[in-house]
Amino acid sequence: MTVSAEFLAALPKSELHLHIEGTLEPELRFELAERNGIELEYATPEEVRASYQFHDLGSFLASYYAGMEVLRTEPDFYDLARTYFERVAAQNLAYVEIFFDPQAHTARGVPFDVVIRGLRRAQQDAENRLGIRSALIMCFLRDFQAEFAMATLVASLPYREWITGVGLDSDERGNPPSKFAAVFARARQEGYRLTMHCDVDQDGSIEHIRQVLHEIGVERIDHGTNVLEDESLVQELIDRSIGLTSCPISNRWVSDGTKAAEIAELLRRGVKITINSDDPAYFGGYVQENLAVLAEEAGLTETDLIQLQRNAVDIAWAPPQVKDDLRARLDVLD
Ligand code: ADE
Ligand code: ZN
Repeated sequence: MTVSAEFLAALPKSELHLHIEGTLEPELRFELAERNGIELEYATPEEVRASYQFHDLGSFLASYYAGMEVLRTEPDFYDLARTYFERVAAQNLAYVEIFFDPQAHTARGVPFDVVIRGLRRAQQDAENRLGIRSALIMCFLRDFQAEFAMATLVASLPYREWITGVGLDSDERGNPPSKFAAVFARARQEGYRLTMHCDVDQDGSIEHIRQVLHEIGVERIDHGTNVLEDESLVQELIDRSIGLTSCPISNRWVSDGTKAAEIAELLRRGVKITINSDDPAYFGGYVQENLAVLAEEAGLTETDLIQLQRNAVDIAWAPPQVKDDLRARLDVLD
C-alpha cells in the first residue's frame, strides 16, 4: 500500500455524496423492523448481506428501496442518521453533505416532516456531541414524474433553512436531466444549490453530463467520470471549477471496476474530483475504505489524498467559516 493506514485514519475527511438511506446496515434494519412490527423476509443480517448481488444500478436500487420499508417514524430516521454519524466519527469525518430521498418515503405514506425532523435532530446531535458538521441535500427520484418532484419541492419550502441543495438520483435509464429542467429552475429561484447524478457508464452518460452543464446549470455532478469521453467537457469542468463526487467502491457494483484510473487522471488534470461512499451499507465501504481502495488501485500518495480532501472543501456548500476550519485542519498535514 502506498499510503499508511495511520495516515488514512487520521486524515480529516469531508464527504459530499452519501445517501442516508444507503447507510441502513442490516443490523439496524432488523432493530427497526422489530420496533415497527414488520416481518422481514430474511432470518439474519448475514442473510440480508448475502442477498446483495448487484450487477447494475437497477439491481442495486431494488434492494435499496426494499430496505427502506422499516423507516416509518421520526425516531427511525433519527436512529438511521445517528448510527451513521457514530460510525464515521471513528473515521475522522469532519463534514458531510447528506442526500435524502423524501419521495421514497412520502410515496409509502411517511410524511415529509417525519423524515426531515428525524434527520435534522441527528445532525444537531452529531455537531454537538461528535463535532461533525453536515448539510442536507434533497434528491428527487428521476424515475417518477417531474410533477411529483415539483410537488416535493413545494412541500420542502417550509424547511428551506434546513436544506442546502437539491439533487437527482435513482434510475437514470430513460430519465435524462432535461426531464427535470423546470423543477431545477424553480429550485434555483428558491435559493437551493443544484447537483445531479450522472451515474457511471449509463446509456447516454455523456449526453446527460452535457445536459446538466448546459441545460440545468448544476454546480456539481455526482459521479460523472464519463466526462473523459469528451475533452471539451473536461476543460469546461476545469475552467468553471465544477466538481465531481466520485464513489469508487459503488462504481465496482454498478459498472465494471472502481474507475480508479479515470479518477486519478481527472485529479491530475485539475478537475475538482472528490471521493465518497454513496451507499456504504450496501456497497460495503464508508469514506475511509473508499479512499483506501482508490489509493491502492491508483497508486496515490499522501499528497494526492490531501488534494482530494482540499477539492471536497473547495466544492462543499458549507459556510465560509466552516470551510476555513476544514482547510486549516488539512494545512497542518503539509
Ligand atoms: N440512489 C441511491 N444511490 C444511488 C446511486 N448511486 N445512483 C442513483 N441513485 C441512487
Ligand atoms: Zn449516489
